[in-house]
Amino acid sequence: MPEIIVSKFFYNKEAAPLSYYKAHGGYEGLKKALGMTPGAIIAEMKKSNMRGRGGAGFPTGMKWGFIPKESKMPKYMVCNADESEPGTFKDRAIMTYSPHMLIEGMAIGSFAIGARVAYIYIRGEYVREAGILEKAIEEAYKAGILGEKVMGSDFKLDLYVHRGAGAYICGEETGLLNSLEGKRGEPRVKPPFPAIKGAFGGPTIVNNVETLAAVPAIILKGGEWFAGLGKFPNSGGTRLYCVSGHVNKPGLYEFACGAVTLRELIYDHCGGIRNGNKLKAVIPGGSSAPVLTANELDIALDIEPMMKAGTMLGSAGVIVIDETWSAVKAIKRITHFYAHESCGQCTPCREGCRWMEDVLHRILDGHGKMTDLDLLLNVAGNINGKTLCALGDAAAGPVISFVKKFRHEFEEMIRNETNALNGRLSAEQGKV
Ligand SMILES: Cc1cc2nc3c(=O)[nH]c(=O)nc-3n(C[C@H](O)[C@H](O)[C@H](O)COP(=O)(O)O)c2cc1C
Repeated sequence: MPEIIVSKFFYNKEAAPLSYYKAHGGYEGLKKALGMTPGAIIAEMKKSNMRGRGGAGFPTGMKWGFIPKESKMPKYMVCNADESEPGTFKDRAIMTYSPHMLIEGMAIGSFAIGARVAYIYIRGEYVREAGILEKAIEEAYKAGILGEKVMGSDFKLDLYVHRGAGAYICGEETGLLNSLEGKRGEPRVKPPFPAIKGAFGGPTIVNNVETLAAVPAIILKGGEWFAGLGKFPNSGGTRLYCVSGHVNKPGLYEFACGAVTLRELIYDHCGGIRNGNKLKAVIPGGSSAPVLTANELDIALDIEPMMKAGTMLGSAGVIVIDETWSAVKAIKRITHFYAHESCGQCTPCREGCRWMEDVLHRILDGHGKMTDLDLLLNVAGNINGKTLCALGDAAAGPVISFVKKFRHEFEEMIRNETNALNGRLSAEQGKV
Protein backbone atom coordinates (compact mmCIF):
# COMPACT_ATOMS: atom_id res chain seq x y z
CA MET A 1 0.00 0.00 0.00
CA PRO A 2 1.67 3.26 -1.05
CA GLU A 3 2.08 5.80 1.71
CA ILE A 4 -0.28 8.76 1.46
CA ILE A 5 0.39 11.72 3.73
CA VAL A 6 -0.64 15.16 2.50
CA SER A 7 -3.39 14.01 0.11
CA LYS A 8 -5.13 11.72 2.54
CA PHE A 9 -8.24 13.92 2.75
CA PHE A 10 -8.29 15.13 -0.86
CA TYR A 11 -11.70 15.47 -2.52
CA ASN A 12 -13.48 14.68 0.76
CA LYS A 13 -15.85 17.62 1.20
CA GLU A 14 -16.31 16.82 4.90
CA ALA A 15 -12.60 17.00 5.75
CA ALA A 16 -11.87 20.71 6.22
CA PRO A 17 -13.51 21.36 9.64
CA LEU A 18 -11.54 20.99 12.86
CA SER A 19 -13.89 18.29 14.19
CA TYR A 20 -13.14 16.00 11.23
CA TYR A 21 -9.42 16.63 11.37
CA LYS A 22 -9.24 15.93 15.11
CA ALA A 23 -11.38 12.80 14.77
CA HIS A 24 -8.82 11.49 12.25
CA GLY A 25 -5.70 12.00 14.33
CA GLY A 26 -5.27 15.74 13.75
CA TYR A 27 -3.15 17.84 16.14
CA GLU A 28 -1.55 14.76 17.74
CA GLY A 29 1.73 15.83 16.10
CA LEU A 30 1.50 19.28 17.70
CA LYS A 31 0.66 17.72 21.07
CA LYS A 32 3.77 15.54 20.80
CA ALA A 33 5.93 18.44 19.60
CA LEU A 34 4.94 20.61 22.59
CA GLY A 35 6.41 17.92 24.84
CA MET A 36 9.71 17.99 22.94
CA THR A 37 12.46 20.60 22.98
CA PRO A 38 12.75 22.87 19.92
CA GLY A 39 16.17 21.34 19.29
CA ALA A 40 14.72 17.82 19.27
CA ILE A 41 12.07 18.86 16.72
CA ILE A 42 14.69 20.35 14.43
CA ALA A 43 16.83 17.20 14.84
CA GLU A 44 13.81 15.11 13.82
CA MET A 45 13.27 17.31 10.75
CA LYS A 46 16.93 16.89 9.81
CA LYS A 47 16.61 13.11 10.16
CA SER A 48 13.53 13.11 7.93
CA ASN A 49 15.46 14.25 4.84
CA MET A 50 12.51 16.47 3.97
CA ARG A 51 13.50 18.77 1.13
CA GLY A 52 11.38 21.84 0.51
CA ARG A 53 8.48 21.30 -1.89
CA GLY A 54 8.39 24.91 -3.15
CA GLY A 55 10.91 24.37 -5.93
CA ALA A 56 14.49 24.69 -4.75
CA GLY A 57 14.46 21.47 -2.68
CA PHE A 58 16.44 22.91 0.24
CA PRO A 59 16.62 20.58 3.30
CA THR A 60 13.96 21.82 5.72
CA GLY A 61 15.61 20.73 8.98
CA MET A 62 18.84 22.45 7.99
CA LYS A 63 16.93 25.65 7.16
CA TRP A 64 15.17 25.65 10.53
CA GLY A 65 18.54 25.09 12.18
CA PHE A 66 19.86 28.38 10.69
CA ILE A 67 17.54 30.45 12.89
CA PRO A 68 19.69 32.02 15.62
CA LYS A 69 18.68 30.84 19.10
CA GLU A 70 19.16 34.30 20.58
CA SER A 71 17.68 37.20 18.69
CA LYS A 72 16.72 40.73 19.74
CA MET A 73 14.26 40.80 16.85
CA PRO A 74 11.06 38.71 16.84
CA LYS A 75 11.19 35.54 14.74
CA TYR A 76 8.60 34.64 12.13
CA MET A 77 7.28 31.55 10.40
CA VAL A 78 5.90 32.26 6.93
CA CYS A 79 4.05 29.86 4.71
CA ASN A 80 4.51 30.40 0.99
CA ALA A 81 1.07 29.78 -0.48
CA ASP A 82 1.67 31.88 -3.58
CA GLU A 83 1.63 28.80 -5.84
CA SER A 84 2.31 30.81 -8.95
CA GLU A 85 4.48 28.44 -10.99
CA PRO A 86 2.47 27.43 -14.09
CA GLY A 87 1.51 23.77 -13.94
CA THR A 88 1.39 23.68 -10.14
CA PHE A 89 -1.86 23.17 -8.24
CA LYS A 90 -1.07 21.00 -5.20
CA ASP A 91 -1.00 23.66 -2.46
CA ARG A 92 -4.49 24.72 -3.42
CA ALA A 93 -5.81 21.18 -2.74
CA ILE A 94 -4.02 20.99 0.63
CA MET A 95 -5.54 24.30 1.70
CA THR A 96 -8.98 23.27 0.48
CA TYR A 97 -9.19 19.83 2.07
CA SER A 98 -6.64 19.97 4.90
CA PRO A 99 -6.32 23.54 6.18
CA HIS A 100 -5.71 22.25 9.71
CA MET A 101 -2.84 20.03 8.54
CA LEU A 102 -1.12 23.19 7.34
CA ILE A 103 -1.95 25.10 10.54
CA GLU A 104 -0.63 22.20 12.63
CA GLY A 105 2.61 22.08 10.61
CA MET A 106 3.02 25.84 11.01
CA ALA A 107 2.42 25.67 14.76
CA ILE A 108 5.06 22.93 15.13
CA GLY A 109 7.52 24.89 12.99
CA SER A 110 6.85 28.12 14.90
CA PHE A 111 7.43 26.35 18.23
CA ALA A 112 10.68 24.82 16.90
CA ILE A 113 12.17 28.11 15.69
CA GLY A 114 10.77 30.29 18.49
CA ALA A 115 8.27 32.31 16.42
CA ARG A 116 5.24 33.81 18.13
CA VAL A 117 3.74 35.22 14.95
CA ALA A 118 3.18 33.33 11.71
CA TYR A 119 1.78 34.29 8.31
CA ILE A 120 0.27 32.43 5.43
CA TYR A 121 1.02 34.48 2.30
CA ILE A 122 -1.56 33.36 -0.23
CA ARG A 123 -1.91 34.43 -3.86
CA GLY A 124 -4.74 36.89 -4.44
CA GLU A 125 -6.49 34.62 -6.93
CA TYR A 126 -7.06 31.96 -4.24
CA VAL A 127 -10.07 33.76 -2.80
CA ARG A 128 -11.94 30.60 -1.83
CA GLU A 129 -8.85 28.99 -0.26
CA ALA A 130 -8.09 32.14 1.76
CA GLY A 131 -11.65 31.96 3.13
CA ILE A 132 -11.22 28.29 4.08
CA LEU A 133 -7.98 29.09 5.89
CA GLU A 134 -9.50 32.03 7.74
CA LYS A 135 -12.37 29.86 8.89
CA ALA A 136 -9.97 27.13 10.04
CA ILE A 137 -7.81 29.66 11.91
CA GLU A 138 -10.91 30.98 13.69
CA GLU A 139 -11.81 27.41 14.71
CA ALA A 140 -8.27 26.85 15.96
CA TYR A 141 -8.34 30.02 18.10
CA LYS A 142 -11.70 29.02 19.59
CA ALA A 143 -10.36 25.54 20.42
CA GLY A 144 -7.23 26.93 22.11
CA ILE A 145 -4.94 25.56 19.39
CA LEU A 146 -3.81 29.07 18.47
CA GLY A 147 -3.54 32.11 20.71
CA GLU A 148 -2.20 32.73 24.21
CA LYS A 149 -1.72 29.11 25.33
CA VAL A 150 -1.35 26.72 22.43
CA MET A 151 -3.04 23.46 23.54
CA GLY A 152 -2.72 24.52 27.18
CA SER A 153 1.06 25.07 26.99
CA ASP A 154 3.11 28.21 27.62
CA PHE A 155 3.62 28.64 23.89
CA LYS A 156 1.80 31.60 22.33
CA LEU A 157 1.13 31.80 18.60
CA ASP A 158 -0.81 34.19 16.39
CA LEU A 159 -1.44 33.21 12.79
CA TYR A 160 -2.57 35.54 10.02
CA VAL A 161 -3.59 35.08 6.39
CA HIS A 162 -2.07 37.72 4.10
CA ARG A 163 -3.38 37.95 0.56
CA GLY A 164 -1.07 38.80 -2.32
CA ALA A 165 -2.22 40.64 -5.42
CA GLY A 166 -1.36 38.09 -8.07
CA ALA A 167 2.33 38.44 -8.95
CA TYR A 168 4.60 35.49 -9.73
CA ILE A 169 7.56 37.29 -8.21
CA CYS A 170 5.84 37.29 -4.81
CA GLY A 171 6.37 33.52 -4.71
CA GLU A 172 10.11 34.17 -4.52
CA GLU A 173 10.70 34.21 -0.79
CA THR A 174 12.26 37.65 -0.43
CA GLY A 175 9.84 39.25 -2.91
CA LEU A 176 7.14 37.66 -0.76
CA LEU A 177 8.59 39.18 2.41
CA ASN A 178 8.75 42.65 0.83
CA SER A 179 5.13 42.28 -0.26
CA LEU A 180 4.16 41.10 3.23
CA GLU A 181 5.75 44.25 4.63
CA GLY A 182 3.68 46.37 2.25
CA LYS A 183 6.55 47.14 -0.10
CA ARG A 184 6.97 46.41 -3.82
CA GLY A 185 7.32 42.68 -4.40
CA GLU A 186 10.94 42.80 -5.50
CA PRO A 187 13.49 40.17 -4.43
CA ARG A 188 16.17 41.22 -1.97
CA VAL A 189 19.93 40.85 -2.23
CA LYS A 190 21.02 37.65 -0.46
CA PRO A 191 22.84 37.26 1.91
CA PRO A 192 21.47 38.05 4.43
CA PHE A 193 19.10 35.10 3.97
CA PRO A 194 15.64 35.29 5.58
CA ALA A 195 16.70 32.93 8.40
CA ILE A 196 19.00 35.73 9.60
CA LYS A 197 17.12 38.83 8.41
CA GLY A 198 13.67 38.18 7.01
CA ALA A 199 10.22 39.61 7.73
CA PHE A 200 10.40 43.06 9.36
CA GLY A 201 14.13 42.46 9.86
CA GLY A 202 13.64 39.42 12.12
CA PRO A 203 14.88 35.84 11.60
CA THR A 204 12.29 34.17 9.37
CA ILE A 205 11.57 30.77 7.90
CA VAL A 206 9.71 30.64 4.61
CA ASN A 207 8.34 27.23 3.70
CA ASN A 208 5.99 25.94 1.05
CA VAL A 209 2.47 24.70 1.93
CA GLU A 210 3.27 21.05 1.12
CA THR A 211 6.50 21.16 3.14
CA LEU A 212 4.64 22.40 6.22
CA ALA A 213 1.67 20.07 5.78
CA ALA A 214 3.99 17.06 6.04
CA VAL A 215 5.50 18.22 9.35
CA PRO A 216 2.81 16.75 11.69
CA ALA A 217 3.32 13.26 10.21
CA ILE A 218 7.10 13.60 10.52
CA ILE A 219 6.87 14.51 14.20
CA LEU A 220 4.26 11.89 14.97
CA LYS A 221 5.89 8.96 13.17
CA GLY A 222 9.51 10.10 13.34
CA GLY A 223 12.09 11.45 10.97
CA GLU A 224 13.56 8.03 10.28
CA TRP A 225 10.19 6.70 9.08
CA PHE A 226 9.80 9.66 6.71
CA ALA A 227 13.36 9.35 5.39
CA GLY A 228 12.77 5.64 4.77
CA LEU A 229 9.91 6.36 2.40
CA GLY A 230 12.21 8.02 -0.13
CA LYS A 231 13.92 5.82 -2.69
CA PHE A 232 17.09 7.88 -2.83
CA PRO A 233 19.33 9.06 0.01
CA ASN A 234 18.82 12.67 1.15
CA SER A 235 15.25 12.89 -0.13
CA GLY A 236 12.61 11.57 2.22
CA GLY A 237 8.85 11.29 2.26
CA THR A 238 6.25 11.57 -0.44
CA ARG A 239 5.53 14.19 -3.07
CA LEU A 240 2.50 15.52 -4.80
CA TYR A 241 2.88 15.49 -8.58
CA CYS A 242 0.56 17.86 -10.44
CA VAL A 243 -0.07 16.37 -13.87
CA SER A 244 -1.61 18.60 -16.54
CA GLY A 245 -1.77 18.71 -20.32
CA HIS A 246 -2.42 15.98 -22.82
CA VAL A 247 -2.84 12.91 -20.61
CA ASN A 248 -6.06 10.99 -20.19
CA LYS A 249 -6.17 11.44 -16.42
CA PRO A 250 -4.65 14.73 -15.32
CA GLY A 251 -4.68 15.49 -11.60
CA LEU A 252 -2.76 15.20 -8.36
CA TYR A 253 -0.80 12.03 -7.56
CA GLU A 254 1.07 11.36 -4.31
CA PHE A 255 3.96 8.88 -4.38
CA ALA A 256 7.03 8.22 -2.28
CA CYS A 257 9.89 10.38 -3.53
CA GLY A 258 11.63 8.71 -6.46
CA ALA A 259 9.41 5.61 -6.39
CA VAL A 260 7.88 6.24 -9.80
CA THR A 261 9.48 7.21 -13.11
CA LEU A 262 8.10 9.82 -15.46
CA ARG A 263 7.09 7.06 -17.88
CA GLU A 264 5.20 5.16 -15.15
CA LEU A 265 3.47 8.33 -14.02
CA ILE A 266 2.26 9.19 -17.52
CA TYR A 267 1.40 5.74 -18.83
CA ASP A 268 0.57 3.62 -15.76
CA HIS A 269 -1.12 6.21 -13.58
CA CYS A 270 -2.37 8.97 -15.87
CA GLY A 271 -3.76 6.64 -18.56
CA GLY A 272 -1.30 7.64 -21.30
CA ILE A 273 -1.68 10.34 -23.93
CA ARG A 274 -5.11 11.62 -24.99
CA ASN A 275 -6.71 10.27 -28.17
CA GLY A 276 -3.93 7.70 -28.52
CA ASN A 277 -1.60 10.49 -29.72
CA LYS A 278 2.16 10.32 -29.56
CA LEU A 279 3.99 12.13 -26.78
CA LYS A 280 6.19 15.02 -27.87
CA ALA A 281 7.60 16.55 -24.69
CA VAL A 282 7.29 16.77 -20.91
CA ILE A 283 8.12 19.65 -18.61
CA PRO A 284 8.66 17.87 -15.28
CA GLY A 285 8.78 20.59 -12.64
CA GLY A 286 6.58 23.55 -13.50
CA SER A 287 7.10 25.73 -16.57
CA SER A 288 10.52 26.90 -15.39
CA ALA A 289 11.98 23.38 -15.69
CA PRO A 290 13.93 22.57 -18.88
CA VAL A 291 11.89 20.37 -21.22
CA LEU A 292 12.42 16.63 -21.76
CA THR A 293 11.70 14.76 -24.99
CA ALA A 294 9.62 11.59 -25.37
CA ASN A 295 12.90 9.63 -25.25
CA GLU A 296 13.72 10.86 -21.78
CA LEU A 297 11.01 9.31 -19.66
CA ASP A 298 12.87 6.66 -17.69
CA ILE A 299 13.88 9.09 -14.98
CA ALA A 300 12.79 8.67 -11.36
CA LEU A 301 10.63 11.52 -10.12
CA ASP A 302 13.00 12.97 -7.58
CA ILE A 303 15.30 15.95 -7.21
CA GLU A 304 18.69 14.37 -7.94
CA PRO A 305 17.70 12.14 -10.90
CA MET A 306 16.01 15.11 -12.59
CA MET A 307 19.09 17.25 -12.03
CA LYS A 308 21.28 14.54 -13.55
CA ALA A 309 18.99 14.56 -16.60
CA GLY A 310 19.62 18.30 -17.01
CA THR A 311 16.26 19.48 -15.76
CA MET A 312 14.61 19.89 -12.35
CA LEU A 313 11.73 18.53 -10.33
CA GLY A 314 10.97 22.07 -9.15
CA SER A 315 7.40 22.26 -7.90
CA ALA A 316 6.58 18.84 -9.45
CA GLY A 317 4.21 20.40 -11.98
CA VAL A 318 4.37 17.81 -14.77
CA ILE A 319 3.17 19.37 -18.05
CA VAL A 320 2.60 16.82 -20.82
CA ILE A 321 2.66 17.94 -24.47
CA ASP A 322 1.56 15.68 -27.32
CA GLU A 323 2.49 15.63 -31.01
CA THR A 324 -0.38 17.92 -32.01
CA TRP A 325 1.27 20.87 -30.29
CA SER A 326 4.00 23.04 -31.67
CA ALA A 327 7.13 23.23 -29.52
CA VAL A 328 7.67 26.78 -30.79
CA LYS A 329 4.19 27.89 -29.73
CA ALA A 330 4.62 26.20 -26.34
CA ILE A 331 7.87 28.01 -25.51
CA LYS A 332 6.49 31.31 -26.85
CA ARG A 333 3.57 30.99 -24.41
CA ILE A 334 5.89 30.16 -21.50
CA THR A 335 8.26 33.00 -22.35
CA HIS A 336 5.38 35.45 -22.53
CA PHE A 337 4.54 34.51 -18.92
CA TYR A 338 8.07 35.19 -17.64
CA ALA A 339 8.40 38.43 -19.64
CA HIS A 340 5.11 39.59 -18.15
CA GLU A 341 6.04 38.53 -14.60
CA SER A 342 9.61 39.84 -14.52
CA CYS A 343 9.62 42.47 -11.77
CA GLY A 344 12.04 44.58 -13.81
CA GLN A 345 14.62 45.03 -11.07
CA CYS A 346 17.48 43.22 -12.85
CA THR A 347 18.32 44.37 -16.39
CA PRO A 348 19.19 40.93 -17.86
CA CYS A 349 15.78 39.58 -16.82
CA ARG A 350 13.73 42.70 -17.63
CA GLU A 351 15.27 43.21 -21.09
CA GLY A 352 16.21 39.62 -21.90
CA CYS A 353 12.81 38.05 -21.28
CA ARG A 354 11.17 40.61 -23.55
CA TRP A 355 13.84 40.05 -26.22
CA MET A 356 13.30 36.30 -26.16
CA GLU A 357 9.56 36.82 -26.45
CA ASP A 358 9.99 39.24 -29.37
CA VAL A 359 12.28 36.83 -31.25
CA LEU A 360 9.88 33.91 -30.70
CA HIS A 361 7.03 36.15 -31.80
CA ARG A 362 8.71 37.04 -35.06
CA ILE A 363 9.50 33.39 -35.77
CA LEU A 364 5.81 32.54 -35.40
CA ASP A 365 4.88 35.61 -37.42
CA GLY A 366 6.89 34.61 -40.48
CA HIS A 367 9.71 37.10 -39.99
CA GLY A 368 12.13 34.66 -38.35
CA LYS A 369 15.69 34.06 -39.53
CA MET A 370 17.82 30.97 -38.96
CA THR A 371 20.27 33.14 -37.00
CA ASP A 372 17.46 33.83 -34.51
CA LEU A 373 18.01 30.43 -32.94
CA ASP A 374 21.56 31.26 -31.90
CA LEU A 375 20.36 34.71 -30.89
CA LEU A 376 17.83 33.08 -28.54
CA LEU A 377 20.56 30.92 -27.01
CA ASN A 378 22.79 33.96 -26.67
CA VAL A 379 20.15 36.10 -24.93
CA ALA A 380 19.13 33.22 -22.64
CA GLY A 381 22.79 32.63 -21.77
CA ASN A 382 23.09 36.28 -20.78
CA ILE A 383 20.16 35.99 -18.35
CA ASN A 384 21.05 32.66 -16.75
CA GLY A 385 22.71 33.13 -13.37
CA LYS A 386 22.95 36.91 -13.78
CA THR A 387 19.94 38.06 -11.77
CA LEU A 388 19.14 38.58 -8.08
CA CYS A 389 16.54 35.82 -8.00
CA ALA A 390 15.89 32.68 -10.01
CA LEU A 391 13.13 34.18 -12.20
CA GLY A 392 15.77 34.89 -14.82
CA ASP A 393 16.94 31.26 -14.77
CA ALA A 394 13.31 30.15 -14.84
CA ALA A 395 12.82 32.02 -18.11
CA ALA A 396 16.16 31.20 -19.74
CA GLY A 397 16.42 27.45 -18.98
CA PRO A 398 13.25 26.46 -20.85
CA VAL A 399 14.19 28.54 -23.93
CA ILE A 400 17.65 26.94 -24.10
CA SER A 401 16.22 23.43 -23.73
CA PHE A 402 13.42 23.94 -26.27
CA VAL A 403 15.77 25.40 -28.90
CA LYS A 404 18.36 22.66 -28.35
CA LYS A 405 15.94 19.72 -28.27
CA PHE A 406 13.41 20.90 -30.89
CA ARG A 407 15.70 22.90 -33.18
CA HIS A 408 14.33 21.04 -36.20
CA GLU A 409 10.81 22.34 -35.38
CA PHE A 410 12.04 25.90 -35.06
CA GLU A 411 13.88 25.61 -38.40
CA GLU A 412 10.83 24.15 -40.08
CA MET A 413 8.66 26.90 -38.60
CA ILE A 414 11.07 29.59 -39.86
CA ARG A 415 11.07 28.06 -43.37
CA ASN A 416 7.33 27.41 -43.57
CA GLU A 417 6.14 30.62 -41.95
CA THR A 418 8.55 32.73 -44.00
CA ASN A 419 7.40 30.99 -47.20
CA ALA A 420 3.77 31.44 -46.19
CA LEU A 421 4.33 35.10 -45.42
CA ASN A 422 6.15 35.65 -48.74
CA GLY A 423 3.23 33.92 -50.49
CA ARG A 424 0.73 36.21 -48.76
CA LEU A 425 2.79 39.31 -49.60
CA SER A 426 3.10 38.31 -53.29
CA ALA A 427 -0.63 37.72 -53.43
CA GLU A 428 -1.25 41.17 -51.87
CA GLN A 429 1.14 42.79 -54.33
CA GLY A 430 -0.56 40.94 -57.19
CA LYS A 431 -3.85 42.56 -56.18
CA VAL A 432 -2.32 46.06 -56.26
C1 LIG B 1 10.37 33.48 -9.22
C2 LIG B 1 10.12 32.48 -8.12
C3 LIG B 1 8.83 32.11 -7.79
C4 LIG B 1 8.61 31.22 -6.75
N1 LIG B 1 7.32 30.87 -6.46
C5 LIG B 1 7.08 30.03 -5.42
C6 LIG B 1 5.76 29.69 -5.06
O1 LIG B 1 4.78 30.13 -5.69
N2 LIG B 1 5.57 28.86 -3.99
C7 LIG B 1 6.63 28.35 -3.27
O2 LIG B 1 6.44 27.64 -2.31
N3 LIG B 1 7.90 28.66 -3.61
C8 LIG B 1 8.15 29.48 -4.65
N4 LIG B 1 9.44 29.82 -4.95
C9 LIG B 1 10.53 29.30 -4.08
C10 LIG B 1 10.69 30.19 -2.84
O3 LIG B 1 11.59 31.25 -3.13
C11 LIG B 1 11.28 29.40 -1.66
O4 LIG B 1 12.41 28.70 -2.09
C12 LIG B 1 10.30 28.42 -1.05
O5 LIG B 1 9.11 29.04 -0.65
C13 LIG B 1 10.93 27.77 0.17
O6 LIG B 1 10.06 26.80 0.72
P1 LIG B 1 10.50 25.28 0.80
O7 LIG B 1 11.89 25.23 1.36
O8 LIG B 1 9.49 24.66 1.68
O9 LIG B 1 10.45 24.75 -0.61
C14 LIG B 1 9.69 30.68 -6.02
C15 LIG B 1 11.00 31.03 -6.38
C16 LIG B 1 11.21 31.92 -7.42
C17 LIG B 1 12.62 32.27 -7.78
